[in-house]
Amino acid sequence: MSAIRPAAVVVLAAGEGTRMKSATPKVLHEICGRSLVGHVLAAAGELEPQNLVVVVGHAREQVTAHLNSVAPEVRTAVQAEQNGTGHAVRMGLEELGGVVDGTVIVVCGDTPLLTGATLKALSGTHTTDGNAVTVLTAEMPDATGYGRIVRDETGAVTAIVEHKDADDTIRAIREINSGVFAFDGRLLAEALKQVRTDNSQGEEYLTDVLGILREAGHRVGASVAGDHREIAGINNRVQLAEARRILNDRLLTEAMLAGVTVVDPATTWVDVTVTFEQDAIVHPGTQLQGTTHIAEGAEVGPNSRLLDTRVGPGARVDNTVSNGAVVGPNASVGPYAYLRPGTRLGAKGKIGTYVETKNASIGEGTKIPHLSYVGDATIGEFTNIGAASVFVNYDGQDKHHTTVGSHCRTGSDNMFVAPVTIGDGAYTAAGSVITKDVPPGSLAVARGQQRNIEGWVARKRPGSAAAKAAEVASREESGEG
Ligand code: UD1
Ligand code: MG
Repeated sequence: MSAIRPAAVVVLAAGEGTRMKSATPKVLHEICGRSLVGHVLAAAGELEPQNLVVVVGHAREQVTAHLNSVAPEVRTAVQAEQNGTGHAVRMGLEELGGVVDGTVIVVCGDTPLLTGATLKALSGTHTTDGNAVTVLTAEMPDATGYGRIVRDETGAVTAIVEHKDADDTIRAIREINSGVFAFDGRLLAEALKQVRTDNSQGEEYLTDVLGILREAGHRVGASVAGDHREIAGINNRVQLAEARRILNDRLLTEAMLAGVTVVDPATTWVDVTVTFEQDAIVHPGTQLQGTTHIAEGAEVGPNSRLLDTRVGPGARVDNTVSNGAVVGPNASVGPYAYLRPGTRLGAKGKIGTYVETKNASIGEGTKIPHLSYVGDATIGEFTNIGAASVFVNYDGQDKHHTTVGSHCRTGSDNMFVAPVTIGDGAYTAAGSVITKDVPPGSLAVARGQQRNIEGWVARKRPGSAAAKAAEVASREESGEG
């Protein structure tokens, strides 16, 4: 196919999307980690167009702000009133100076499944055939609502007739207009001037450009999409869910063919930005989001949600929620762990069951196996943090840091009241509240001395089951039993 870069891509995104029933503009709804319009821009970007314009109208402040953040190179054109797709394209061309020399591709902002490959094929056919306009069409199982493609006896496209303007013969046609076109830029600008509004919706229809160009003796072509699902526009949340399922399947299929084991594709959800290495394994009920990366031989899930998380080679992450963490090679996380931003777990380290971490650098081979909170901490290598420990990082106003050295053994149920430092090789006793620095190699004991008040139960709880049990035990001890 021709690799000629189109002069411009115009994305139509001014419509309201009433049927979404949402405070969020339609094109900003997300599937697989990207807005609907974001997907369209990604596909359009594969054409490397010289200009990329999005026509905005309804909720344009919100849509423009989104575009500025995800695709700052994109230009926007304002269509203040939604007077139809033809009018919208005119607004787009005005942003580019009114007339564009070369190919202009028009796509809708609500078709997230459209691929760059399909756009390239359309653009290629358009150029090779020397058409004035080439429309992307598809055979629909149910064509209701779409513009129908009308062909003459030779098979040449003569017109597109909107569903609302069609009679029964035309409504019986199942080949529909996808809303994606390649145009000769000059002829498009000319034809748009002639588009009228004498139709059932009183709008300027872009689709009328086909008939106008054909009447003027220009070549009108069509390119039939291989998969009609690719051109489906999203109008409501049922279609949103269907599109998400299709895109997710596409992403998982790609991953599996590249050597990733996905145990249950039906319950595994991935964003377009997630990456894998060979022999990664994903267990059921797992959501991988953002820039998450699963390295070679790593295993994640079941029942995990990882956002912007890097899982190192051979690591194991089980029943975990993670956001912005880095898990080292052959490390182990979970089951039931919560990793928050800034968590860095070294090679062969362990963050175990019911452990929460945040802004914590945990060295190679270090283990935090049970029931702990580690926030704002640096822990060295091969240290073991006892069960049920809390890094007390917050004094009610500010956060403070705790440093624990390498080869430490901290006791169970410790509180490390930050800021505090535990030296290399130090031990702490179970139940300690550590408020002062512990020198390397020391044992820190920071808890009340134990006191046993003998005979207390017999005196204070006479006749109770406890008192009786104690009496039996003391008789046995003194050999009277
Ligand atoms: C349009 C086509 C129809 C095609 C269908 C494919 C026309 C006249 N009809 O119909 O042939 O089968 O898409 O989905 O082109 N938009 C604007 N400004 C406007 C009107 C629309 O930007 O004034 C945008 C919408 O945001 C949307 C796209 O253009 O992204 C299509 O508009 P929509 O109202 O959905 O057109 P359909 O009636 O679906
Ligand atoms: Mg539509």
